[in-house]
Amino acid sequence: MAKTQVYCGMFVHSTKKDYMRILQNHAIGVKEGKIVFVEEMIKFQLKANEKEHEVIKLNNNEFLMPGMIDTHIHAPQYPNAGKGLDQGLLEWLNKYTFPTEAKFKELEFAKNTYRKIVRRTLENGTTTASYYGTIHIDACLALCDIIEENGQRALVGKVNMNANSPDYYIEESVDVSVSETKKFVDEVLQKKYPRVLPIITPRFAISCSQQLMDALGLLAIEKDLHVQTHISETEDECEMVGKLYPECEDYLDVYDKAGLIRNKTVLGHGIYLSDKERKKIKQKGASISHCPNSNLSIRSGIFNARQCLSEGIKVGLGTDVSGGYSPSMMDAMRTAIHVSNMLTIKDRTHKPITHREVFMMATYGGSQALAIDHLVGNFEVGKEFDALLVSLDCPGSQVDIFDDDTPEDLVQKFIFLGDNRNIQKVFVNGEDVLQRKVPDVCPKA
Ligand code: GUN
Ligand code: FE
Repeated sequence: MAKTQVYCGMFVHSTKKDYMRILQNHAIGVKEGKIVFVEEMIKFQLKANEKEHEVIKLNNNEFLMPGMIDTHIHAPQYPNAGKGLDQGLLEWLNKYTFPTEAKFKELEFAKNTYRKIVRRTLENGTTTASYYGTIHIDACLALCDIIEENGQRALVGKVNMNANSPDYYIEESVDVSVSETKKFVDEVLQKKYPRVLPIITPRFAISCSQQLMDALGLLAIEKDLHVQTHISETEDECEMVGKLYPECEDYLDVYDKAGLIRNKTVLGHGIYLSDKERKKIKQKGASISHCPNSNLSIRSGIFNARQCLSEGIKVGLGTDVSGGYSPSMMDAMRTAIHVSNMLTIKDRTHKPITHREVFMMATYGGSQALAIDHLVGNFEVGKEFDALLVSLDCPGSQVDIFDDDTPEDLVQKFIFLGDNRNIQKVFVNGEDVLQRKVPDVCPKA
């Protein structure tokens, strides 16, 4: 019988009550990938038994945290990460994004790119990602295989677009777009990947007709599927959506009329949502993916995370590669703090979000946003052990520790000064997936 692995030391996670809870001198028991107990060390020591338990002791300046959850990332845009940020959203899509995504018709190119981004995000501590693919079914299925091969957990969406898109990158008709989506969903479900699910992915209201969105909404309801899309990211986009859908009350109503706003829906950006729209998002149990790097890099706007959190809306963080140039969720945490600080600089009554809120949004909040908080997101008994072993004094660490640093200071320093070098192990379902032998396309920096 396999032994229960017992990690002993310091842990940090978010709970329903606490954005950041630190447990010192604790033990987490993991059996068959799942958390079977979390208790104080002294309590565990009373029952510790060599035959049953494999004890793994963490060193000083090491801690375990839940794996990070990227709630919004475009896998095929990775070749553009760090370039082509000189345009606003709509121009940027036409000049850089659509030409790059069109290349994913070529399966080999797609596979090589997807291997790189999946490996890169895992190395940076992303144990779960909600990926946008392209309109190409074969490339999207290859992305699922590569995620599975690397041991990551993910939602994967075949992108739908049948309107206001270039001739070289558009689906032929509503029928084709819907039938390809059904085929994709069925194939992903049939393959019974243990940790990969399909997600319905209408790109945004500008590139989908109402008829297409209606059919996708129906499909999501029929099969109880997740949904992801973009909303209210820029003012130009909002204006265009108003013109395209004059019969709708607002941007959210375009999606809601189609049945796309559900408790398994994650909406990217949402910078310019009205009070009424946010209220409805909360009512429906949908969520927002805040993508701070993207919002600054292509100058979309300043999202008010504090407002959404205080209204009780589920908020996760997203890298939004390649509107966001960094595939790292640590960058997303830091940038989210800076974005919130900007709001405080403009209005001193605004209460900025801190390392505690961003930690929650990168982990537990992300799992809530993707409606997978019954599975992952924190260290609750019964959940899968998706976790990061963080070391602050490993070789190459850019974090220096001082005698008076408290446990919370260590976590804070990791958030602000840490990087992938501090992430020593990446556990998904109890397995350190960085140890897997996979095609080496991404040489270490
Ligand atoms: N809106 C529609 N498509 C996209 C995209 O690829 N990236 C971003 N940031 N916004 C979008
Ligand atoms: Fe996006």
